[in-house]
Amino acid sequence: MAWRDWVRTAEIEPSLYAADFANLGSQIETLLDAGARIFHFDVGDGHFVPPVTIGPVVLRSIAPLIHERGGVIDCHLMVDDPVHHFPELAESGGDSVTFHVEAVADAGAVIAQAREHGLGVGIAFNPGTTVEEAAATATQGADLCLCMSIVPGYSGQELMDDAYARIERLRSLVDCFVQVDGGVNEGNAHRVRAAGADLLVVGSGIFANADLPQAYRRLVQALG
Ligand code: DX5
Ligand code: ZN
Repeated sequence: MAWRDWVRTAEIEPSLYAADFANLGSQIETLLDAGARIFHFDVGDGHFVPPVTIGPVVLRSIAPLIHERGGVIDCHLMVDDPVHHFPELAESGGDSVTFHVEAVADAGAVIAQAREHGLGVGIAFNPGTTVEEAAATATQGADLCLCMSIVPGYSGQELMDDAYARIERLRSLVDCFVQVDGGVNEGNAHRVRAAGADLLVVGSGIFANADLPQAYRRLVQALG
């Protein structure tokens, strides 16, 4: 199984970083019941981004819940040395790894390393990186290219104004899935989708709501 099998036209991916960790399992079950299938899992190392976020210990706990329902886990590695983390993430139940173009010297080699662990692969890029550089890297064999619409590190920020133009430009340059992460919500999801995104990552736009299924479903409807 691979990204082409996971994506149903377009996907809203709940970003678990914004979840209530005292109720993580039940929030995942609730979102699976509502129809979510791809869960976004943010690994931050406290160096590439300031915070240490979540990692393999949490992944091991939730992977069975998600896999037994046919779901998958999309790991976003906001780390300096992504290759170091591939074996443990693969063993812990990660299905795909997305690493940052800013973090590696030879992206083609890193993609090959991820494939050796049976992982899907994405290339992420920050607001300060050109779309052209990211697209050229993603065309070395990635399944997806992640356009950050915030400076990565924290949930709850606002999507940057130039994100739409960057998504459009990326869409015109790559054949792989286009993913967008940061500040996506019910109010802008339609425009993000129209700009060319296939995979919309949503953290606080889901988890800041009392009614998670309703928030998820409204986002799916907004895709049009
Ligand atoms: C932050 C993470 C995001 C984050 C998104 O750098 O990469 O996935 O959880 O959260 P929102 O949707 O609240 O911006
Ligand atoms: Zn993320």
